[in-house]
Amino acid sequence: MSHEKIASTFDEWARAGRDVGMEEGHGDVVEQVVDRLGLRPGEQVLDLGCGNGWATRLLARAAAGTGAVGVDVSPAMIQRAEELHSFTIRARYEVAHFEDLGLPDEHFSRVFSMEALYYAVDLEKALSEIFRVLKPGGAADVVIDFYAERTGTEDWPEKTGLSMNRLSEAEWRAAFERAGFVDVGTERVVDRRGIGDEADFEPSEHYPDYATKKAVHDAGSLWIHAVKPA
Ligand SMILES: C[S@@+](CC[C@H](N)C(=O)[O-])C[C@H]1O[C@@H](n2cnc3c(N)ncnc32)[C@H](O)[C@@H]1O
Repeated sequence: MSHEKIASTFDEWARAGRDVGMEEGHGDVVEQVVDRLGLRPGEQVLDLGCGNGWATRLLARAAAGTGAVGVDVSPAMIQRAEELHSFTIRARYEVAHFEDLGLPDEHFSRVFSMEALYYAVDLEKALSEIFRVLKPGGAADVVIDFYAERTGTEDWPEKTGLSMNRLSEAEWRAAFERAGFVDVGTERVVDRRGIGDEADFEPSEHYPDYATKKAVHDAGSLWIHAVKPA
């Protein structure tokens, strides 16, 4: 799949206002993860596949003097990020793709990503870019909702019209280790808001029935934590 195809799809999402829906959908899981990152004052954080930059801004506000850069292949998403930006926050946004970030070596102490990395056109190259831009001793925290153990998500590529890397939890760990990362661990993060009562359920494109929605919810998001050796 080409970067142009990914960019044009997410450009359309941005124009249709779906960036706001992603913030709403991913908000609780990201809040749980960011609360536990323990960001220290002055740290520089990269947000990969930042969409409209809502999580980039959250990361930039997580500690005094923290700075964040959001990167996304979709120009319309980056335009939305610029529109929503506040000059009191140390954040900026760039159009770039995972496989060629165009950012300096060993610049960031943290790399964060929510619900984006499985779109990588070349996952090996994307992981080597994350490794390159991290400082020695820095950490990557990647959260994804699409992974092999999460039943009910198998048809997402067909529904979005985009290729997605469908790896198991163990395969994600192995991929990070092959890229040179150590202390690679995974855990599941479940949205604390739940899915509501079955009586109120209405079928949608993603969730044709309540059982599918429950299975997807209960599996949780997969959080991969990996450290670049010091
Ligand atoms: C599902 S959205 C998630 C956006 C945001 N992280 C959030 O949680 O709202 C995935 C984002 O990743 C971006 N993306 C996908 N593949 C990419 C690539 N190869 N390089 C850079 N960005 C990419 C898309 O343009 C899109 O904005």
